[in-house]
Amino acid sequence: MNHAYTATAEAHPNIAFIKYWGNRDHAERIPSNGSLSMNLRGLVTRTTVAFRPDLGSDRLILHGRPVGGQALARVSRVLERVRAWSAMGWYAEVRSENNFPTGAGVASSAAAFAALAVAAAAAAGLTLPERDLTRLARLGSGSASRSVPGGFVEWHAGASDENSYAESIAPPEHWALADCIAIVSAGHKAVGSSRGHRLAETSPYQPVRVADAPRRLNLCREAILQRDFAALAEIVEADCHMMHAVMQTSRPPLLYWGPPTVALMHAVRRWREQEGLPVAYTIDAGPNVHVLCPQEAAEVVRRKLAEVPGVQRVLVAGPGGPARVVE
Ligand code: DP6
Repeated sequence: MNHAYTATAEAHPNIAFIKYWGNRDHAERIPSNGSLSMNLRGLVTRTTVAFRPDLGSDRLILHGRPVGGQALARVSRVLERVRAWSAMGWYAEVRSENNFPTGAGVASSAAAFAALAVAAAAAAGLTLPERDLTRLARLGSGSASRSVPGGFVEWHAGASDENSYAESIAPPEHWALADCIAIVSAGHKAVGSSRGHRLAETSPYQPVRVADAPRRLNLCREAILQRDFAALAEIVEADCHMMHAVMQTSRPPLLYWGPPTVALMHAVRRWREQEGLPVAYTIDAGPNVHVLCPQEAAEVVRRKLAEVPGVQRVLVAGPGGPARVVE
């Protein structure tokens, strides 16, 4: 096999401070609103792409096991675009592994498709600007576009494939924040985000949430650039509740919270308002709670989270770098 057609890349998952929920174009994953996130150092997906003349279709192997169905179809979507953009005519074998538990409420698809986009482009001999790599990752999973650049990343909604892309607004060293992830359930989500994005438009609150998104993005971007934790806490929690209000009022309604999720929200507010601890929470399409704080408070926060009934384990991650080719 020719080594020139093989490449390995690593990427981190990310936690959204301003959420992506709903698409204006589902096929191309053009989101209804822009979003903003922080990559998570320490949590890593490693993916190897090998284009081979002997394959009759693309192949996906996750943690050593062959996978088909929807997951493979999404991978092929990205590989098709790479083949269209390059001279590559062969199918590929894709091998991917996470160093963090899949389905533990840490979105693995963001890291997976960011690593896939970077590895596939390199394996096909394409040298793409970062902006185009984020577009490629976006086709597999919207939030994956934000795992391609490093640090604090904004995904511009755009209106078409060309202008829906992500870019870094600040490098990882800009702000020593921590995301303390309180895992209350390691099970797979009841309704995956791809289906959720389609349900968003059935909520009467979605147009309001989308129309107000530029204001929230401005506040969040400014809070990050100024390293203003109090301002960040306020906008991150508000944005999280706006997304969950849409989820909870979709038809059928989506209620991702469990009793420990609610207990954690109350605890975080109590620690901030009564104990003066700099903390803020945000929740994705699942029951786990991401608690943000300055890195110097992370150990105290981790210990307090572990004591909340229902919390199974706590992962702590700082700001992570970009997706990159390794080896
Ligand atoms: C709640 O990027 O996972 O985590 O594009 O269908 O893969 P697909 O959806 P995905 O949606 C992320 C939803 C979210 C919010 C966010 O990360 O912005």
